[in-house]
Amino acid sequence: MNRKIIIDTDPGQDDALALLLALSAPDCLEVCGVTTVAGNVPVDQTCINALRICQLAGRPEVPVFKGCPRPILRPLHTAEFICGADGLAGMALEAPRQGQQQAHAVAFLIDTLRHSDRPITLCALGPLTNIALALVQAPDISDKIEQCIIMGGARDLGNMTAAAEFNFFVDPHAASIVFASGVPIVLFPLNATYQAVATPARLAGFDRQASVSRQIVSMLRRERPGGAALGGDDGHPMHDACVIAYLLWPELFEGRDCNVEIEIAEGTTVGRSTIDWWGRSSAKPNAHVVATLNADAMFERMAGAVRALDQNGGKPGDMN
Ligand code: BDR
Ligand code: CA
Repeated sequence: MNRKIIIDTDPGQDDALALLLALSAPDCLEVCGVTTVAGNVPVDQTCINALRICQLAGRPEVPVFKGCPRPILRPLHTAEFICGADGLAGMALEAPRQGQQQAHAVAFLIDTLRHSDRPITLCALGPLTNIALALVQAPDISDKIEQCIIMGGARDLGNMTAAAEFNFFVDPHAASIVFASGVPIVLFPLNATYQAVATPARLAGFDRQASVSRQIVSMLRRERPGGAALGGDDGHPMHDACVIAYLLWPELFEGRDCNVEIEIAEGTTVGRSTIDWWGRSSAKPNAHVVATLNADAMFERMAGAVRALDQNGGKPGDMN
């Protein structure tokens, strides 16, 4: 039986690859819906981007829901300096022909989890605002969450501030709620995802003759508007793609169970994740924290997955 998932996301180039990957494997992953949140760019734009990516994948029937326009307490910080004004590095993908769903993302999360015949895995690729609010509004849904696989945090330094990674910095209160909720969590912090840089050598494995592959490679090779990002000049780190790759190929990843806490006090460390890797505190593990991955194999398999989308009718879009 395939695994049911909901993808909560703020596309974002790395979110885009994650979505394509999830949509490429219907035999393993049933994507019940995509919920969007404000993060890399405001939520109107992340919603349009999610619709565009589903269309590009040849899967326009996948329902997309717009979620929260801002974090729970803090003002919204966005990341156009990495993603460009449109969130997808100026990639002029075809405008979506399908619209977003009427329901709010939080309502969709609650209803879908409550009425599902089996537990659902949540793939959290952006600030955790929608998922935290769903858990606050309907704590009973936690029994229906098989796992919450999260990209966020850092065992070492941050990428948004010296202390904090972007997703947790944007909505630390939401992250704190999710980590305290007791749902089974797998965490992909920066120290793991910076191993998944889309270098020219790794991108060479994508089939440039095929439409979806060509477009995704073109997007990943574009200059980052803010110049070289942390993690080096070799390419974009595919942070969020790790979450879906983990579901498809868990044997490529290693980690351990740890306690994770999120700093919510305002100041230089707001949004910091304290990951108790060495078990120094008596606090119980509340997450499985991934530390290493086989990035070459991951990119090889991702190239194959995107090629499968092309073979199954991914639709061309207009690139500028
Ligand atoms: C995370 O922040 C976003 O910019 C990326 O899409 C990823 O989810 C990395 O810190
Ligand atoms: Ca993201």
